[in-house]
Amino acid sequence: MEKAFYITTPIYYVNDRPHIGHASTTVWADVQARYQRLRGRRTFFLTGLDEHGIKVQQAAEKRGLPPQQHCDEMAPHFLALWKALNISQDDFVRTTEPRHKAVVQRFLAELHSKGAIYRKKYHGWYSKAAEQFVTEKEKVNGQFPAHLGEVVELEEENYFFRMSDHQEWLIRHIQEHPDWIQPSNRRNEILGALQKPLEDLCISRPKARLAWGIPLPFDPEYVTYVWVDALVNYISVPGYGTERFASFWPADFHLIAKDILTTHTVYWPTMLHAVGIPMPNRILAHGWWLMEREKMSKSLGNIISPQDYIEKYGADALRYFICRELQLANDTDFTEERFLRRFNADLANDLGNLVNRSLSMVHRYRQGNAPGRGAAGAVEEEICKLAAATFDAYHPAMESIAYSTALEAVWKLIARANRYVEETAPWKLAKDPAAASRLDAVLRLLTEISAALAYLVSPFMPDTAAKITNQLAIRDLTESRLRTLDLLSDGHALGPPAPLFPRQSASDCAASRAK
Ligand code: MSP
Repeated sequence: MEKAFYITTPIYYVNDRPHIGHASTTVWADVQARYQRLRGRRTFFLTGLDEHGIKVQQAAEKRGLPPQQHCDEMAPHFLALWKALNISQDDFVRTTEPRHKAVVQRFLAELHSKGAIYRKKYHGWYSKAAEQFVTEKEKVNGQFPAHLGEVVELEEENYFFRMSDHQEWLIRHIQEHPDWIQPSNRRNEILGALQKPLEDLCISRPKARLAWGIPLPFDPEYVTYVWVDALVNYISVPGYGTERFASFWPADFHLIAKDILTTHTVYWPTMLHAVGIPMPNRILAHGWWLMEREKMSKSLGNIISPQDYIEKYGADALRYFICRELQLANDTDFTEERFLRRFNADLANDLGNLVNRSLSMVHRYRQGNAPGRGAAGAVEEEICKLAAATFDAYHPAMESIAYSTALEAVWKLIARANRYVEETAPWKLAKDPAAASRLDAVLRLLTEISAALAYLVSPFMPDTAAKITNQLAIRDLTESRLRTLDLLSDGHALGPPAPLFPRQSASDCAASRAK
């Protein structure tokens, strides 16, 4: 079987409901999955939930619920949001599922049998908030940084993974595969961190201290460290240890944000390497959404609720904004003002207006039938060339998840087409019987451009693409003919026109602060 194009998101903690940050990585992955399907590739898009560990246990305790019940109550919130956002995941994993637990145990047993795990007594500092052991080296001015929360002294025996054995190999792998960690500032950050000796990784928690986890297969008095448990989801779902695994793995993209870079580019690859599993192809870490220059996070209480935006502006507008504005290498401020600017300028004025007036004119002047090519000339030829160039710029940008670059190229075509409407003034041509053939040319080109746009925006805005194809009464978006603006046949009957994005005014919605 053809190997699937395999893309993942982080699996999100169920200590709280999803916010715009979670929605953003999931939308980015969804756009890629839809794009790959559009190109005809077998695609496997995985997302899910990270349900073990201290954070989830504490969240359940706070609600006075057993942890499993807490997880069972949280999962529907994520699934409902993904549905509202038109997320097309092929599978949804919860780490409390037996299919996942079995692979975590198998993976740990393999690490153990290869001698990659040992037991030792540890005495030192432990951050409850970060759920990790910390060292004196992390102190700044004699204090542990605030994000580590309460740091306590701890003495306990634990199991450790010999991560340090893989340091040289990891550095070499990063150097030999320049695109493996993207963007390059993150790659450099990891290479910089790897100049210091890599320590071994504590992979267990004594059951007496934390019961909510997967028992170690070789010592049931311990549960698996939540990060080891969570990372294994990427191989448990595609069936590590079974025949079908080879038709999924390696993942083409692990999509994450920069907060979980080390776990994905150091812990995960070294564990895979120790077991002898091939590396994922690319790990791409985007920047954060900020609110007033601070990271948006539940603990800071500055959360944007995706539901508010979906209800008010529609899922497509939010998806578009996330892909157009969230940056790869830097952090980005999320404001409703910025959102509205994009909505009104890009969606209502540019795209919506172009498609709506183009198709309305075909109805008004040609009874809703796509005219023949008529008296097409140099301008039409120039626009056809621009359309082909748009596809040529779009594909490589999409392949590398450079969404704002892809969208800029598409919007250049939209701007040119809107200018073309003004230049040719079809409403004037319609009054002149001698200009009938010229009007045919203009209306046909605008109809073809609308079809090309349906294709180009479809991974980002699937509802909008469907609205455009319905209005065009076309089903099949065959790319080779769209690229040359040559999809329709003369006389093709269009469906009824309808506006895509009604203009919005600034209002009170959106930035609902968490209580
Ligand atoms: N459970 C771990 C991930 C395990 S993956 C094997 C975890 N969960 S999380 O719920 O904290 O999600 C972190 C991820 O959520 C980030 O990497 C990013 O994908 C997304 N975001 C959370 N806050 C964000 C922003 N403020 N901005 C953009 N994305 C952010 O870590």
